[in-house]
Amino acid sequence: MMNTSAEVFAPATMANLGVGFDILGLALEEPGDIVRAELMDAPGVEIAHIEGDDGKLTRDPAKNTAGVAAASVLRLLSVDRGVRLTLFKRLPLASGLGSSAASAVAAAVAVNAILGYPFSAEQLLPAALDGEAAVSGYHADNVGPCLFGGITLVSGIESTRIRRMPIPTALHLAMVTPDIAVPTAMARSVLPATVPLRDMVRQTAAVARLIDAIYRDDVEAMAQAMESDGIIEPARAHLMPMLAEVRVAAKRAGALAVVISGAGPTLCAICDSEPHARAAAAAMQSVYDNAQIPCVSRSSRVSSRGARVLAAN
Ligand code: HSE
Repeated sequence: MMNTSAEVFAPATMANLGVGFDILGLALEEPGDIVRAELMDAPGVEIAHIEGDDGKLTRDPAKNTAGVAAASVLRLLSVDRGVRLTLFKRLPLASGLGSSAASAVAAAVAVNAILGYPFSAEQLLPAALDGEAAVSGYHADNVGPCLFGGITLVSGIESTRIRRMPIPTALHLAMVTPDIAVPTAMARSVLPATVPLRDMVRQTAAVARLIDAIYRDDVEAMAQAMESDGIIEPARAHLMPMLAEVRVAAKRAGALAVVISGAGPTLCAICDSEPHARAAAAAMQSVYDNAQIPCVSRSSRVSSRGARVLAAN
């Protein structure tokens, strides 16, 4: 049975986990984007309103990540009705927290709820990827954890290539987001086109150590492996203000490691308890406060749940 409206929460995500460039990601408990969809008599997708983006996102449904994902879900069922979307952007744009993926996933899940849940999360994946691709290409390291939750290994864009891994029991994260935009395309343009074989072996070893540590519930080994990135972080470090100072401050406060979240500029401290995560968040924030760089800091656990319907009727 169709619903006339649905509201969906889709969580922030952290791609890469340091060494796992483009193949690892995780979902956070908070914050996240909310998308409300309302059934229209006319076919197609309209974007009625976007709150929280300072007018920066396109309202053109053919170009907006949520609009594209919504249209893809409608196409799957060939319905002759349409949807009107309202986006509540809680995630900062171009910040390394999976903002575009969250809007795409939330819109796909909301349209599925309007249509009476004909599709599984796995079946919604291509539509969410279409939405993400509208702004940053076909890759699932944010969309995967956003849709399915947890820590995910993303070795392709098919749902069979997205594997959920265990969430280490003690894992707590602290994030700090300085108020500068680092568009993913720009952060990718600074990466090397080729890497020496020796670096490839080191990076592969670190990814293997990380996955082993996740399965062994060993947060300390996980943090060490995450911070061993010898390829991506060195190329991007200059785009992340005060990365070295933030790392030192977070570790003094008890963090085990600091990595770039996704393509940055959000920095993420890996911690083994909530008090350490809270202290690391405060310490990272004070580095930017002292430098008079506006920022937002948060602490969160990994969420085992991905996007979810808050209301549908
Ligand atoms: N893995 C991507 C990157 C993040 O680091 O460029 C956005 O998906």
